[in-house]
Amino acid sequence: MSVVALVPAAGRGVRLGAGMPKALVPVNGESLLLRAVRGLLASGCVQHVVVAAPADQVEVVAAELAALPSAHVVPGGAERTDSVRRALDAVERVAPDARVVLVHDAARAFTPASMIRDVVAAVEQGAPAVIPVLPVTDTIKQIDDAGDVVSTVDRSRLRAVQTPQGFAIDVLREAYAAAGDVATDDAGLVERVGGKVHTVDGHPHALKITTAFDLAVAESVLAVAGV
Ligand code: CTP
Ligand code: MG
Repeated sequence: MSVVALVPAAGRGVRLGAGMPKALVPVNGESLLLRAVRGLLASGCVQHVVVAAPADQVEVVAAELAALPSAHVVPGGAERTDSVRRALDAVERVAPDARVVLVHDAARAFTPASMIRDVVAAVEQGAPAVIPVLPVTDTIKQIDDAGDVVSTVDRSRLRAVQTPQGFAIDVLREAYAAAGDVATDDAGLVERVGGKVHTVDGHPHALKITTAFDLAVAESVLAVAGV
């Protein structure tokens, strides 16, 4: 029984604006994708990785990961959900014994190994779906169409969600089989089919790199964590 990680990396990185897919953007000479995939394998609890690459850059991405024989590359789709679905479809071929599946954004390239292990451990202990979360630190307001505040939301029960998200593989397959449209996270699809989603502690270093500001933060993470 093995653990397989799906890495959606087929986005265009429009908000980062680096003129290339975000996954291929280097930080200190190594791409976000290489760092993300190597981090998964280095956690010691992931045996296979399936990367969804931009459909016109499958070979470029495969070359980027050539040093990691456990990484397989498939063409991604128009939306993140499509990319994850294509990677999930490839699991039967590349990791037929996989019983646990992680879904992890290439854009979260600096995720600590301990967090990856916590997610896998929680699934192996019986949780059908597991997400890493952080408390919300800003005050949250609900507003109306005019931009006026309707209410102040109680943030004590709110959490910001990161990846990797972990699943018993049958649970994720069922959720994707039922999914009609796109979702912003994979656990959301499990929720839609009535599945229970458990949380574990996330980590600030697992931030999603979306903008140039985030990339600058990631460079600082490298400097302090030496990852
Ligand atoms: N992703 C994907 N397939 C898509 C869209 C996104 O595999 N069709 C991946 C991205 O490569 C990224 C993750 O999903 O690793 C989260 O998406 P996001 O942060 O939005 O990245 P991009 O879509 O590349 O960025 P942008 O929305 O700014 O273009
Ligand atoms: Mg996007």
